[in-house]
Amino acid sequence: VILRRVFPEPTKAIELDDAGSRAQIADLYRPPRSPWLRLNFIASVSGNVVGSDGTSEKLSNPVDRRILGIIRELADVVLIGAGSLRTEGYLRPRNARLAVVTASGNLATESIDKASAADPLIVFCPPSATARVRTSLGEMPVDIVELPETNGQLSPREIAEALRGRGLTSIVCEGGPKLARQFVEAGIVDEICLSTSPVVNGASLPFLGAAQFAERQLTLTQLLIDEASGLYACWAVLQS
Ligand SMILES: NC(=O)c1ccc[n+]([C@@H]2O[C@H](COP(=O)([O-])OP(=O)(O)OC[C@H]3O[C@@H](n4cnc5c(N)ncnc54)[C@H](OP(=O)(O)O)[C@@H]3O)[C@@H](O)[C@H]2O)c1
Repeated sequence: VILRRVFPEPTKAIELDDAGSRAQIADLYRPPRSPWLRLNFIASVSGNVVGSDGTSEKLSNPVDRRILGIIRELADVVLIGAGSLRTEGYLRPRNARLAVVTASGNLATESIDKASAADPLIVFCPPSATARVRTSLGEMPVDIVELPETNGQLSPREIAEALRGRGLTSIVCEGGPKLARQFVEAGIVDEICLSTSPVVNGASLPFLGAAQFAERQLTLTQLLIDEASGLYACWAVLQS
């Protein structure tokens, strides 16, 4: 499979089967500074983040999975909302921590692979949900970070600060839309990495949810394209 950078300046085609391809892609995705907070999503051309199976799996392909893996390797922590955990199930990143945000404390333990867990799962929740987190995770080692809630929601800014306070400065938020949207609205996202799957399938679950919010200006910083019409864009978010 061939991947090419077409913007800013075109680079030599990257052949995914070549031994050096991982390093070449990592060079294209290395965060420019620390701390860094990026969102990483895949959506269809019609803006849907789920395929016919109700997950992102059907939209993805080997190139997207390779880029996702490399973005994870370049991060200290992968941050997700409990909804994504419950729907998608999560393979622990090999080199980064996994952190989950929940108000309810309902973390379906069967959704998390336990085998590769070198470090405890990090869970952000309000104090009222701690007991349920512990019950739902059973014996799984967990680092519970209690944060205050406002109307059942933890603050994205406090979540990011708590991660940085643990030395986890390179953060990738993999969704879902509910969680990611709050980070965008809080004005603390540096970059959006958005893969576009070459299909249209309506928009039952738009990338950042269905509700309107105040416009934020983006600048395209990179665009890669594969030979099967998949697009891999990076957008810098103007900070507020
Ligand atoms: N295409 C992609 O790249 C992609 C990526 C990720 C997910 N998805 C899809 O997105 C869907 C899930 O969407 P979603 O928007 O519901 O997922 P989500 O954002 O992962 O999960 C929402 C849940 O996260 C918790 N949460 C979010 N913000 C919170 C806050 N500020 N404070 C406390 N808890 C908070 C709550 O959990 P509790 O309910 O436990 O309180 C909330 O119900 C799935 O179908 C998944 O397949 C697609």
